[in-house]
Amino acid sequence: LDNGLALTPPMGWLAWQRFRCLTDCITYPDECISENLFKAMADRMSSDGYLEAGYEYVIIDDCWASKERDNDSRLQPDPARFPGGIKNLSDYIHSKGLKFGIYADYGTHTCAGYPGSIDYLKIDAQTFAEWGVDYLKLDGCYADVETMPEGYGEMGQYLNETGRPIVYSCSQPAYQEPKGINPNYTKLAETCNLWRNWDDIDDAWSNVTNILGWFSSNQDRIASFSGPGHWNDPDMVGISANAECGHIRRLLDSVDRITGTNSSTMRVSLDEDYYIHDSLLLGNFGLSYEQSKAQMAIWAILAAPLLMSVDLRTIDPIFRDILQNKDVIAINQDPMGVQGRLVLTKSTIDIWTKPITPHIEGSDSYAIGVLSNRVDGYPYRLNFTLLELNLTHIYGYTIKDVYDPSSEPRDVDIDQLIFVRVKPSGVVLL
Ligand code: DGJ
Repeated sequence: LDNGLALTPPMGWLAWQRFRCLTDCITYPDECISENLFKAMADRMSSDGYLEAGYEYVIIDDCWASKERDNDSRLQPDPARFPGGIKNLSDYIHSKGLKFGIYADYGTHTCAGYPGSIDYLKIDAQTFAEWGVDYLKLDGCYADVETMPEGYGEMGQYLNETGRPIVYSCSQPAYQEPKGINPNYTKLAETCNLWRNWDDIDDAWSNVTNILGWFSSNQDRIASFSGPGHWNDPDMVGISANAECGHIRRLLDSVDRITGTNSSTMRVSLDEDYYIHDSLLLGNFGLSYEQSKAQMAIWAILAAPLLMSVDLRTIDPIFRDILQNKDVIAINQDPMGVQGRLVLTKSTIDIWTKPITPHIEGSDSYAIGVLSNRVDGYPYRLNFTLLELNLTHIYGYTIKDVYDPSSEPRDVDIDQLIFVRVKPSGVVLL
């Protein structure tokens, strides 16, 4: 959408993956969908380095609204959970130097059963602009997929008429694709700044790989529609990291201090992340450390919107560092905005590449993501040549390991074997 916005993939925080439709603020005061939650996330975004790293939008998802519109047919927030009103919350978020996003649904109801916008598109666009909304996610539950192309366009028109710059995120393909309808991506790129293509992300690695499977098998059809101002959206960065890995590390530190021992075996296992989620009873709460690095790397290569969905109050610093990794973010935010592609699968390991700047004749650059689908437990030693990835610059390339700050850049010829060790469901990003 040529509205001057989202010239690089939008970065921010979106409530759904982590907080869903939790509305019981009596039992869960700190986690329920309420103004307090969004204020707390805004506080963390500005104080803990996220804003500085580029994350700017704080976005409400479903379940914020009251079940009834007001007497003027306007959407209104649930009064108990948003007592200050949405304008107030938006002002608060803006006061932190951040931008504010909200959620609506093109159909009769939102997916969770709150009022939909189908008969109120214009009123809702105006309301959002008055509230100082900078980003709208327009979902597609309880809607006629046939009317979506026109309807999403109509809403875009109303947003435009408000005169307020609003990033417009559409969900239309996510409702058309599963029905076998091929969305008109050319029109979508003119109508929306980003669009959800496929399934929701959930808090499991199998889910991440399903989405990647869909993106790679459809890359020839969809990749070229992504670019500055208009992005394919594989959904949130599901790094639903919690503080527990950190707690264990700290616990081991204390044990060592008290007993004078060194729990190194345990520690190696922790560092290798073989135990954290399955064997140490810490619950199926999120991706492992390696999987989180892997998702972040491939989302960067896909030029995907980077919308975190994680509790920023309890996230362990090791996961925060993944989200704030400058080099990975630079790959994602590369100004050319080219969506990377899966170019080679070897020994059950996928290699993705994305052209990045500088990319001029005589000096072309790429990000290379080596993603393991192996389950055989040990860091697999893979070799490949740049020629196999269609990197053909005659003088070769200089490569470095993005996630390994100690790795020195080195020159390689295009037919020279490159060896990497990739952990199970892990990544090496070059
Ligand atoms: C379906 C969307 O795909 C999700 O991202 C989320 O917005 C839910 N609806 C909310 O009900």
